[in-house]
Amino acid sequence: MRRRLIVGNWKMHKTAAEATALVHRLSELVPQTGEVEVVLAPPFTALHAAAQALPLSRPFALAAQNLHWEDEGPFTGEVSAPMLKDLGCQYVILGHSERRHSFGDDDKKISKKVHAALRHGLRPILCVGESLSDRKKRRTKTVVTGQLRKCLEGISKDELRTLTIAYEPVWAIGTGHAATPAQAGAVHDTLRATLARGWGAEAGEQVRILYGGSVTPENVGAFMASDQIDGALVGGACLDPQSFATIISLAQRVAR
Ligand code: PGA
Repeated sequence: MRRRLIVGNWKMHKTAAEATALVHRLSELVPQTGEVEVVLAPPFTALHAAAQALPLSRPFALAAQNLHWEDEGPFTGEVSAPMLKDLGCQYVILGHSERRHSFGDDDKKISKKVHAALRHGLRPILCVGESLSDRKKRRTKTVVTGQLRKCLEGISKDELRTLTIAYEPVWAIGTGHAATPAQAGAVHDTLRATLARGWGAEAGEQVRILYGGSVTPENVGAFMASDQIDGALVGGACLDPQSFATIISLAQRVAR
């Protein structure tokens, strides 16, 4: 059985001092993560502070929210995989819809980023998702499978096993209108079938597929009850320690 994963995407929130306070508070509220793996994704500038604030038992792992595909060079304003490894990151979120829509991250660039992450032992959390107009035109499956195939071009079976996919419908992110577990589950099935076709059923079975988009303490239980959903990528609700701790504890308690 795939281990459940809850990821908190802090986006552009929290200074270093605020990150320290948030990690300390979360460590108090979530002393044990048990069967659930928890990953925190602060902004670049707060990664060091968050790493320092993690308790020795390290119940949480760290993720970055993006990277550049080159290791170093004349890329003003960018951050590379070796730099993130050096700060203690184990994961990196790639292809988030905010990056796709506001910062020009297309499937080709995201694929280079996925390869760079894997080259340096960072585990990608690859986001895919359709817009509202895609969904209305019944293009959801075509869009998400296209994103998946293009972003994962050239990935080996062994590399695939280290990957996490996050299905995040664009219309659900930050809107308060989450997908239903049935809507998410249907897309998760399509994504897993695409993985199985490309890399074999066994490797495909090992990849965790998360749901993201307006996940809250109120709705997370219904997502966790689904066999097809291996965890959640949480934005807004992860900034409040009590909400995020409740989401984690529900992910621990709700059986599937
Ligand atoms: P949200 O964001 O939970 O605030 O909708 C999710 C995300 O963007 O990863």
